[in-house]
Amino acid sequence: MKISVCGKEGSGKSTIVALLASEALKRGYKVLVVDSDESNSGLYRMLGFDQPPVPLMELVGGKKGLRQKMGQPNVLGETNIRTAQIPEEYLLQKDSLRLVAIGKILQSLEGCACPMGVLSREFLKKLDLAEGELAIVDMEAGVEHFGRGVDTSIDSILIVVEPPLESVNVGQKIYDLASGIGIKNVWAVMNKVPSGEIAARLKAELEKRQIKVVGCIYHDADIFSSSLDGRIPAKGVAVQEIKEVMQSILSRTGMASPI
Ligand SMILES: Nc1ncnc2c1ncn2[C@@H]1O[C@H](COP(=O)(O)OP(=O)(O)OP(=O)(O)O)[C@@H](O)[C@H]1O
Ligand SMILES: [Mg+2]
Repeated sequence: MKISVCGKEGSGKSTIVALLASEALKRGYKVLVVDSDESNSGLYRMLGFDQPPVPLMELVGGKKGLRQKMGQPNVLGETNIRTAQIPEEYLLQKDSLRLVAIGKILQSLEGCACPMGVLSREFLKKLDLAEGELAIVDMEAGVEHFGRGVDTSIDSILIVVEPPLESVNVGQKIYDLASGIGIKNVWAVMNKVPSGEIAARLKAELEKRQIKVVGCIYHDADIFSSSLDGRIPAKGVAVQEIKEVMQSILSRTGMASPI
């Protein structure tokens, strides 16, 4: 399964990616996290790595070289890419967890991020997952990635929705765009929810819009305070909540955990 975690900026996408990755590892999956957010760079820390991977963009000579070098021989030129084929400096690895990053905007006036969108789209399309391997994509905020076709080879989308209506509206847009390109597994996870009453209201609002809800991560002071160190807590309520989210996703897709 290639699952992409989408939503409005700051809704908690990277946090949910890190929590999901950790839950999937506990269930025996090999997890490949794909950092497809060209603006934020802290995902590696949330996943417990000390430094970021060299972005795949560098493998094709950086943004400027993309057009010329996309045709030259390297793993990205293959028709199918297995995780094991990705050169080591571009692939951080710790036990069954792996992380690749597409590219980051490093300088002002370096131009738009479209080449990274192209690379994300091509990489995800070619990515050939092994048995028991799960790809979790930390998508850039908002909906532009749909315009760039990044989601075309994704089979499941998890939309992170916070209580503000604007977040619900972005979630709706993502739901419509994802459904429009034929993705069947599109669900919402509610995040930073302050109370049971708001959870019920937010769920009703999403269901009114035909968006299926796979779980709720309540507002958690530990998550917020750990974020000052760029980390996520290894235990606590959210760890239990994400377990339920994962269970719900697996039962909706009919998938069984490797262990
Ligand atoms: N359930 C939660 N409870 C409390 N704080 C949370 C929760 N989820 C996320 N946060 C906090 O919200 C902030 C934004 O989270 P995160 O970086 O995961 O969002 P994002 O959607 O990836 O943001 P961006 O769009 O910038 O990539 C962080 O400070 C994080 O700790
Ligand atoms: Mg993020």
